[in-house]
Amino acid sequence: MIGVTGSTGQLGSRIARLLADSGVPQRLIVRDPARAPSLPKAEVAQASYGEQAALLNALDGVETLMLLSATECADRVSLHKATVDAAVAAGVGRIVYTSFAGAAPGATFTFARDHWHTEQHIRGSGVDFTFLRDNIYLDFVPGFVGEDGVIRGPAGDGRVAAVARDDIAAVAARVLVDPGHSGATYDLTGPTAFTLAGAAAVLSAAWGRPVRYEAETLDEAYRSREAYDAPAWEVAGWVTSYAAIASGELSHTSTAVEDITGHQPISLEDYIIRNHSTAPQ
Ligand SMILES: NC(=O)c1ccc[n+]([C@@H]2O[C@H](COP(=O)([O-])OP(=O)(O)OC[C@H]3O[C@@H](n4cnc5c(N)ncnc54)[C@H](OP(=O)(O)O)[C@@H]3O)[C@@H](O)[C@H]2O)c1
Repeated sequence: MIGVTGSTGQLGSRIARLLADSGVPQRLIVRDPARAPSLPKAEVAQASYGEQAALLNALDGVETLMLLSATECADRVSLHKATVDAAVAAGVGRIVYTSFAGAAPGATFTFARDHWHTEQHIRGSGVDFTFLRDNIYLDFVPGFVGEDGVIRGPAGDGRVAAVARDDIAAVAARVLVDPGHSGATYDLTGPTAFTLAGAAAVLSAAWGRPVRYEAETLDEAYRSREAYDAPAWEVAGWVTSYAAIASGELSHTSTAVEDITGHQPISLEDYIIRNHSTAPQ
């Protein structure tokens, strides 16, 4: 039995759909069963990360767990650790975890540090694992553009090897069922790394209206996001995602998507043509 968390969300729903399309039985572990996707050979169990008793029940009989990282929050690492502990206690044999590119304790992108701490906890627990270190979602790139047609962030001239959720899901669906992925860490990237000026040029051409990139300093970035009145940890995550591009930490490309799925990851150009060929209104 494969357990899948996060199937009410964007990535988890894609993974669950691919497993269902392959006829694989799965258990969808969700916070709200009313929102679980309805899929063949899929049963539904209710649990939130950190809810020990509910998780033990939901994970009973699960051999391999697809653990999606939780929505960013101040105590995300604690939630992940408690969920891993519950999985180990329930007898899960392998955890496939959605980590992040360049996960490290001192990663520029503060949210990537959460992923490193979670990876370390999984390693320390003794459970078998596969880590999918996802780059920034390609799906997010059109949303970088402000209403004035400007992408603003402290990304300098750095490059980002963004990867589509569809490609991550295709990898996940394979590593969950295929042998040979135990103990592996895969960097999941798109085919190339592009600058935000390059992304602006691609969007300009597709949308037929000017899109440009203006690099901010870190101070400007923090100041420009004050208006959202968000907690400091969240603003730091937003700003440092761009700073991580500037640092080069997100520029590495890998062949993992093609190696595992047999198809090339989608490029920015093709992604925009297929999904965002017209400008947002
Ligand atoms: N690589 C990137 O660029 C990038 C960008 C953003 C986020 N991420 C990470 O990747 C994850 C998956 O991305 P996504 O696009 O699928 O996000 P999403 O659409 O927001 O889906 C998140 C899923 O995780 C579930 N979830 C979140 N917190 C949970 C908790 N505490 N307990 C149980 N379930 C929880 C959500 O359940 P509900 O429906 O009940 O909320 C939802 O099903 C995100 O959660 C985030 O950690 C990566």
